[in-house]
Amino acid sequence: MTDKVHSGDEPGSSLDPSADEIRRWGNAAIEAMASYIDSIRDRRVYPSTTSRQIREKLDRALPDEGVDFDRLLKTFNDVIVATSRHNGHPRMFGYVQAPGTAIAAIADLLASTLNANLTAWRSAPAAVEIERLTIDWIKQILGFSADAGGLFVSGGSMANLAALAAARRAKAPEELLNKGTQSLPQAMRIYISEETHHSVAKAAVLLGLGRDNVRMVGVDERFKIRVGDLITKITEDLAAGHLPFCIVGNAGTVNTGACDPLREVIAVARRFNLWMHVDASYGGFAALAHSARDLFHAMHEADSVALDPHKWLYLPVDCGCVLYRDAEAARATFAHEAEYTRVLEQEPEEAFAFWDYGPELSRRFRALKVWMMLKGVGLRALGAAIEKDLACARHLERLVRASEDFEMLAPVELSIFCFRYVPPRLKRARASADEVERVRIDEQLDALNERLLIELQRDGSSYLSNARLGGRFSLRGCVMNYRTTFRDMEILLDDLRRVAGSELAIG
Ligand SMILES: Cc1ncc(COP(=O)(O)O)c(C=O)c1O
Repeated sequence: MTDKVHSGDEPGSSLDPSADEIRRWGNAAIEAMASYIDSIRDRRVYPSTTSRQIREKLDRALPDEGVDFDRLLKTFNDVIVATSRHNGHPRMFGYVQAPGTAIAAIADLLASTLNANLTAWRSAPAAVEIERLTIDWIKQILGFSADAGGLFVSGGSMANLAALAAARRAKAPEELLNKGTQSLPQAMRIYISEETHHSVAKAAVLLGLGRDNVRMVGVDERFKIRVGDLITKITEDLAAGHLPFCIVGNAGTVNTGACDPLREVIAVARRFNLWMHVDASYGGFAALAHSARDLFHAMHEADSVALDPHKWLYLPVDCGCVLYRDAEAARATFAHEAEYTRVLEQEPEEAFAFWDYGPELSRRFRALKVWMMLKGVGLRALGAAIEKDLACARHLERLVRASEDFEMLAPVELSIFCFRYVPPRLKRARASADEVERVRIDEQLDALNERLLIELQRDGSSYLSNARLGGRFSLRGCVMNYRTTFRDMEILLDDLRRVAGSELAIG
């Protein structure tokens, strides 16, 4: 279906429609939403389409005259939905992708209706109170003290950037503020494990720290930071006259879901007087699940934490969150006096402004969907859903370990699973091969699994992404969906066997 034909006689969608018209649009849109969600399991995860095909379906002319709402909704249904990847599908295992929820989608609609701008309390009194309340709930979930600070940002990358800016401000000499990083006599150095998400190194570069000052620390066989290597690198840098200022720990790496030993890493940060940041964008909300809670015990002792409610609180993008143990450290970083933003009220509660704690001025009402979700669904049900995600990943691991034709490439810590397809013939050959032969078979398996991934994504029944672990190509999946069941994990392996069958027949 294309939206190209426009007779010219229908009226365009009005800028200020009547209440009845809004009801008609809204009912039609909610019907589209309900049908979409109702049918999501029956769809292909990934559409069979090309960029050209999508472009050809869209009217690309600059729209001088408007078209009516029904036409817009028809394009949404027939073109946009039909050529989208369906992130809410129970076998969408790629990347770290949440499904969204109906209640949060409705919250987004209402938030845009109110169009609150959460710069400061006086700009959006009720909305700011909702954000402060929901941030307070998140602090409680992670065990942070009541006087810690925090706010919602666009996502985990922005949360990492904000936290690193606070870390740099807190640990740099005074001249940083006026003269910039380049004026410092010593290079400020940050320590991250090799498995850390690229947004952390990117943030360091954006802050002017320089790529060479991002020190990569090795990981152990479970992909967790080697604390001994961390201490060695800090000690070497001190001896060389550099200025170590921050360690970043992981509460769930993007590749394998590994959680660094946070208590030990925090102790290293305290010993050397460094800022401790934890990237918990993927894993943080697994603290709600009983079986994973222990991994996150020390997190509230960190100086800052990056979280992503648009990951494991199942919310639609965009909604990241940064917490600061000492809100004043964030204020020292972000507060910037300008006459038109000067707050005139005297009461501290009402003089409060989010621009003092993060990089943005205008901010949308992200907190409404967090509030509706937490209050409407409740922590018990959310914890149970996360527990089920964890159980699905462990189920997959059991199936792989019991199989003849797959093998795990990393242990499952949370809900990420890394594995590869190994035809039984190659599995047997590899078991008795010498080192040289094993390398050759591994290269063959890398190429085969890469082709399988492409075929699986094209096939459309299940979707995985990939990782490189210890130099090997890995199929990688992440369960982050309350709709996913054990049966879906079994279907995933069947799908892989099916595409492997045709691939091997051709190859
Ligand atoms: C561990 C980790 N950190 C940071 C990010 C970046 O988050 P966002 O995509 O919300 O910017 C991701 C994204 O997957 C992640 O897994």
